[in-house]
Amino acid sequence: MKPGKSTVTVHADRHVHPDRSVARAIHQSAAFSAEDAETFAQRAVEPRGTDFYTRFGNPNHAQAAVVVAELEGTEAAMVTASGMAALTTAVLALVSAGDHVIGQQSTYGGTASVLLNLTPRLGVTTTLVDQRDPDAYANALTPKTRLILVESPSNPLLQITDLRAVAGLARARGVITLADNTFATPLNQRPAEFGIDLVMHSATKYLNGHTDVSAGALAGPAELLDRVWDTGLLTGATLGPIDAWLLLRGIRTLPLRMPRHNDNGLALAAALDEHPAVHRVHYPGLDSHPQHKLAADQMSGFGGVLSVEFTGGYDMADAFLGHLRYARRSASLGGVESLAVHPASMWRGMLNDQQLTDAVPPGLVRLAAGTEDTDDLVADALTAADQASTPPAL
Ligand SMILES: Cc1ncc(COP(=O)(O)O)c(C=O)c1O
Repeated sequence: MKPGKSTVTVHADRHVHPDRSVARAIHQSAAFSAEDAETFAQRAVEPRGTDFYTRFGNPNHAQAAVVVAELEGTEAAMVTASGMAALTTAVLALVSAGDHVIGQQSTYGGTASVLLNLTPRLGVTTTLVDQRDPDAYANALTPKTRLILVESPSNPLLQITDLRAVAGLARARGVITLADNTFATPLNQRPAEFGIDLVMHSATKYLNGHTDVSAGALAGPAELLDRVWDTGLLTGATLGPIDAWLLLRGIRTLPLRMPRHNDNGLALAAALDEHPAVHRVHYPGLDSHPQHKLAADQMSGFGGVLSVEFTGGYDMADAFLGHLRYARRSASLGGVESLAVHPASMWRGMLNDQQLTDAVPPGLVRLAAGTEDTDDLVADALTAADQASTPPAL
């Protein structure tokens, strides 16, 4: 019998650099020794090894990676210093000057900035498409397209990409696909099952789950990851051993945390959707989400993140954030504690004014439900929405 997700997260790394400690040992060493020159030479070229030099690989990396690979259902995985390190290393490994990349109009600000501001400087052209329309990907393909980056659900508009359709299209033309699975997690969605080549995570979010680590992960076929690892040696975006250890400790409880995040996300979305001060809630778990059917087809839960547009624009959104008791104003998501943010103010460091206006409505609030009690979060959000929409007494 194949073990379930909770068993896998606790045991899948047992054979990786085993010792007699029950909790994993932290290998806080930048380098490892070898018995002889031949062993040393072999270890120097072993992709994602564990015994040469931590920038090349570390036992704590390998332990976290094997669990990610098991959860995503891929042959292998690797971990990096952040989600952005995973993304830029993969992009640098897979494209060269003259190539073309397709991304999404609705995507994390850092990803948009890589495609709009970084790759063009390297002679790589990009097209951002409306991810809700699979034909848009077909129309954007050129003979030079090498890579398609998808993100589903997208940050912060929670738009859905038809993973099967995009993967099929890309495969038929030998184009590599990379899916950012940060919002869904492998508990809710496994892009490799739909034919996506590489799966990426900001492991800073749900995988770690406790807002105390910055980390990234990539999962996919070993041959593709070997290429990314090779470039990663040069970008040097190495995850520290302690952070890899903390990441693994966080992943151990992912199957316990996600159902609560899913419940809280859905309950908040349903409650705020009814509030008179709310113009629109973006959450793929709501029947009213224009892509709910597709989301339900490729996801088994919809996560803890939702976006809310208030009728009173930027000011009302800001007032709502100020009135929340539990969710603090912060840039992250996916931890046990609820967080909330105004994407229009958060992404100023990565996108220029025009790029920001194109990416997010100014009055949008992104709520990331933690694992608190559902009733507490819903009552708090409704009270904050009441307060934000009540005119001050004269
Ligand atoms: C969907 C998504 N992808 C990638 C990233 C970047 O990850 P990191 O902050 O770990 O570099 C983020 C960060 O917010 C994200 O939300």
